[in-house]
Amino acid sequence: MRIFSGVQPTKNPHIGNYLGAIRNWVDLQRDFQSIFCVVDLHAITVPQDPAELAAQTREVVAAYLACGIDAERSIIFNQASVAGHAQLGWLLSCQTPLGWLNRMTQFKDKAGKNRDSVGLGLYAYPVLMAADILLYKATHVPVGEDQKQHLELARDIAGAFNRLVGVEHFPLPVPQILGQATRVMSLRDGTKKMSKSEESDLSRINLMDSADAIANKLKKAKTDPEPLPYETADLPTRPEAENLVGIMAALQNCDPQKILNQYGGKNFSEFKPALTDAMVAAIVPIGDKMRNYMADQAYIDGILVKGAHRAREIATPILAETHKLLGILQF
Ligand code: TYM
Repeated sequence: MRIFSGVQPTKNPHIGNYLGAIRNWVDLQRDFQSIFCVVDLHAITVPQDPAELAAQTREVVAAYLACGIDAERSIIFNQASVAGHAQLGWLLSCQTPLGWLNRMTQFKDKAGKNRDSVGLGLYAYPVLMAADILLYKATHVPVGEDQKQHLELARDIAGAFNRLVGVEHFPLPVPQILGQATRVMSLRDGTKKMSKSEESDLSRINLMDSADAIANKLKKAKTDPEPLPYETADLPTRPEAENLVGIMAALQNCDPQKILNQYGGKNFSEFKPALTDAMVAAIVPIGDKMRNYMADQAYIDGILVKGAHRAREIATPILAETHKLLGILQF
């Protein structure tokens, strides 16, 4: 059993990335051989400033370490350091019908009205993501809810390849969407996902935010005028309340109902300070550790060098076998 997952080095990692993904990896790395990638090739599907991209790549490594990923036990590397990602991406592109890609909602959201002017990479992105996973024959992929459709596609692509070559070459990767915060929503609009691409920084809590910034963002977080309900059944019609209760439950590692047992009938003015305390206690130490790691660039780069080496050791024979199955000579 092997895990693969990744975070894009675009802007700063936020609590959606932490609660929806990275935090779950910390527990999983004990039971699975784990490969955690900084997916820089995915980041360039939209324009990036080169200096910022390099800095943000190191920042994601710092976030992995600060959240508790063990660089000895798990493999941490950046995608571009293992050429097999792009190579397998091409092999899989040739087996992926356009109709499958046309169904991807994230492309539709990101391309919007600019469908004809965005790069091919943005459209082909889910194929590269399938290649990321299959290059290591990963069996499990822990992600937030927003990646579910991409993972279903990765399974379809693996199946199509296996049928083509007539052997069960790639395992069909199993998504692991875990915890209470599989889809953290924007603090400004409970119907929109918390995202790095959202323009307002007030919409998200970044892992390096100070206690003051966290308090300010939660104070300004959108709510509705009603007190919190007593039952989780009453949350779905109140997206902002549902989001904040879900975040609190994730921070306290409990069921949302337990949060409502305590705060049902109370106003947000009472709930928000408690949420702020829980958030500050969980996030500020991570930000402090990230700053420490980032002050030592040589340490971070050392982890990336070693991680790339270990990743290549796994990927190289799998890629060679894949070429061979297709009749492609590699000398
Ligand atoms: P990315 O960089 O957008 O997000 C990294 C991880 O964080 C999760 N996540 C969230 N979870 C809950 N609520 C949110 N608001 C939220 N925002 C982000 C994501 O689900 C993800 O797990 N395509 C991927 C990166 C990728 C990948 C892969 C993942 C590339 N190749 C192979 C797994 C396997 C992405 O853009 O994640």
